[in-house]
Amino acid sequence: MCGIIGIVGQVPVAPLLVDALKRLEYRGYDSAGIATIEGGELARRRAEGKLVNLEHRLDEEPLAGTIGIGHTRWATHGVPNETNAHPHFSNGVAIVHNGIIENFAELRQELVEDGYAFTSQTDTEVVAHLVSRELKRGARPVDAAHRALKRLEGAFALAIMFQGDDDLIIGARNGPPLAIGHGKGEMYLGSDAIALAPFTNSVTYLEDGDWAVVRRNHVEIFDMKGEPVERPRQQSVGSSFLVDKGNYHHFMEKEIHEQPEVISHTLAHYLDFTEGRARALDLPFDFAKLDRLAMSACGTAYLAGSIGKYWFERYARLPVDIDIASEFRYREMPLSGKSAALFISQSGETADTLASLRYCRDQNVPIGAVVNVRGSTIAREADVTFPILAGPEVGVASTKAFTCQLSALASLAVMAGVARGHIASEAESILIRQLAEAPRFANQVLRLSDQIEKVARELSRVRHVLYLGRDTSYPLAMEGALKLKEISYIHAEGYAAGELKHGPIALIDETMPVIVIAPHDRIFDKTMSNMQEVAARGGRIILITDEAGAARTSLTTMDTIVLPDVPEFIAPIVYALPIQLLAYFTAVAMGTDVDQPRNLAKSVTVE
Ligand code: F6R
Repeated sequence: MCGIIGIVGQVPVAPLLVDALKRLEYRGYDSAGIATIEGGELARRRAEGKLVNLEHRLDEEPLAGTIGIGHTRWATHGVPNETNAHPHFSNGVAIVHNGIIENFAELRQELVEDGYAFTSQTDTEVVAHLVSRELKRGARPVDAAHRALKRLEGAFALAIMFQGDDDLIIGARNGPPLAIGHGKGEMYLGSDAIALAPFTNSVTYLEDGDWAVVRRNHVEIFDMKGEPVERPRQQSVGSSFLVDKGNYHHFMEKEIHEQPEVISHTLAHYLDFTEGRARALDLPFDFAKLDRLAMSACGTAYLAGSIGKYWFERYARLPVDIDIASEFRYREMPLSGKSAALFISQSGETADTLASLRYCRDQNVPIGAVVNVRGSTIAREADVTFPILAGPEVGVASTKAFTCQLSALASLAVMAGVARGHIASEAESILIRQLAEAPRFANQVLRLSDQIEKVARELSRVRHVLYLGRDTSYPLAMEGALKLKEISYIHAEGYAAGELKHGPIALIDETMPVIVIAPHDRIFDKTMSNMQEVAARGGRIILITDEAGAARTSLTTMDTIVLPDVPEFIAPIVYALPIQLLAYFTAVAMGTDVDQPRNLAKSVTVE
């Protein structure tokens, strides 16, 4: 988390730094700051809260200078206030940092004993003092930075600037991403290529353990031993325009509405609708020979994978283990020579997912990754990337990335089913025809927005909500709960409907709405029995179903959201939309910051 930027430029850099930080705000928005060298002296402006506060600060007190670094923060060590905001200074050294310095407590103790005074509660300030101590001991800036870097444990992307040298920024990476942008007589450093896109699309990604000496006309990259290393220069695919909300009130609303289009782009990438066939892909494994697929991801991406598990097992008869990445990475799962691993990540930078990928790589398991951000670390480290064509997702709550992840996973499940001989040619074209219909059904669901908004107004008055579903609607129930809690701050839980009577039913009373996701499928009647159990205890039900489902149920304490009749295979893609809309309208009714909810960040690059 946190976004960092550095520019060694020709023109005043303060406005360019702020512009780049706007592109990085998805990484954190607790506070922001920039530093430049103005008239030979380090100078900085910092502000608590959103970037707009920093912009106001700079309007009142502008900063000159053609070299600078900037930071947008997601707090790990120290509360989000101006004092803890980056850049941090120590005797002519300025520093911005993304990550966690795990040995900061020992280092801090050592520096305090050496007479260094700390002004913030951050782990970052130790790095500034370490570098400045090396300068004091007589090292030149580059060596001082290298010596300090060797003392650090943990995850970091850093940019370091020195008073007295306005042609030098040191960048370093160990964990969180850092890219160098090559300009003409100007150089850049940034957490991702999108931040750098308006300046240049020629980028070099640092690898773990790399550090770089960045000057206007020259860049050198070294490993931790100080040996020069070569890293390729690449054309980035970062979009140079800052995505806007168009006529929508929030990015999340816009992204929900983009789904029919982006689902169809994603499906078309994998499926040939004219031939009714899955496209042939060049894979590092053969689906037919696998005995297991290990999947891992975090948050919403994990829930997409959990739905994917049902599809791979049902349609391809391929056993799937799906794990939360922060568990997978430490649980030492045995992987056979017939396994493949699949990681799912919108950002392609999530620290736990990346660590899980590396665990599988060490086990020599072929690796696929379903990612949105091309050029991201997970995309680059996988043996094969399965892109989702969602486009930039700005709202912190994942919406269109989720349904695009589902679209990619459903397509891959069909591909696997065909390869393993469980989906015959006719069945393949039926499943592909069903998937082709998903965007149209998604569009129909969007037309129910007014009705869903009315239900959401009621939800906005409660403190707890339960979501229930069976089969693929079970992970969807968890996704509904996740979406609601993260943007409305209402406590919500998603449960397998059959689990209700094993505990959660004790919570049911007239104050607890229960949202039941139940397309009229093979197990609809089972879910209805669970619904009756809720009604019998005075629980208020919001049923999301189709016409056939609605016709079979009538309870007085009930709202019903009636979706189009959709084939069972694609139901999770279509049913994702009403749960997103419910969360969205609830949050709007409560007046929360929908696109940037408290305590969250779009890209989670720390454990
Ligand atoms: C929830 C949400 C998060 C992410 C999770 C993984 O709306 O967005 O739960 O899904 O942080 O992020 P990625 O997909 O970037 O790995």
